[in-house]
Amino acid sequence: MITASLDTASLDTAEEATRHIAIEPSILYFGTPVVLLSTENEDGSYNLAPMSSAWALGQTVVLGLGADGQTARNLGSRPDLVINLPAPEQWRAVERLAPLTGRHPVPSTKAEGCRFEPDKFAAAGLREEPSHEVRPPRVAECPLQLEARALRVGPDVSGEFVIVEAAVHKVHADPRIVVPGTDHVDPASWSPLVYNFRHYFGLGPELGSSYRTQTPRSRRGRA
Ligand SMILES: Cc1cc2nc3c(=O)[nH]c(=O)nc-3n(C[C@H](O)[C@H](O)[C@H](O)COP(=O)(O)O)c2cc1C
Repeated sequence: MITASLDTASLDTAEEATRHIAIEPSILYFGTPVVLLSTENEDGSYNLAPMSSAWALGQTVVLGLGADGQTARNLGSRPDLVINLPAPEQWRAVERLAPLTGRHPVPSTKAEGCRFEPDKFAAAGLREEPSHEVRPPRVAECPLQLEARALRVGPDVSGEFVIVEAAVHKVHADPRIVVPGTDHVDPASWSPLVYNFRHYFGLGPELGSSYRTQTPRSRRGRA
């Protein structure tokens, strides 16, 4: 029920809510940041794969990976990885990686058009940069790079995916997205690349901040 205390804007929203329709979307990719995972292959070369089912819980990052992919295989045997976060303008490099797998032969379960590529850094036009604490390299062009180690790798309930819990050991940031003299990423300078129902977006302007923000006040609210 709408109470008299609601203003006009929220009244409109409440009325809109009654007009929902039931749909059956083929995907539920409702807009999460893209990451590029670098992992080590059996032969000591490195694989690079885009994914967007990733989120952080404290210093742990949880990843959802197709069980048939080379990345899931690698993390099952060699736990080192780098979680590289590209910026919105790097979406074309990400999309160049989209039809590629580091797995040979290509599993029949992979999407149509998927092909084997042993050197995905070169295929994407991205440069390797040595890591400090893990074996796979960082992606030099990515403004944020998280060196991490998979602590738990196991099947999801469907058996189609693998859930990885990775502990982050070292964070590297482009100084242009860091509040000078601090360890804070400046939210006004950094935007993730968001995968929104298979389309790429950056962030729009800031709307507000959490009561828990620790970003120094002088830097907040910039355009
Ligand atoms: C933007 C984007 C997001 C993706 N998100 C995921 C994901 O969250 N999980 C996943 O398993 N695959 C995801 N994929 C598909 C993988 O990148 C694809 O299966 C790739 O072949 C995996 O490479 P690999 O077999 O060398 O590990 C995504 C692809 C793109 C382009």
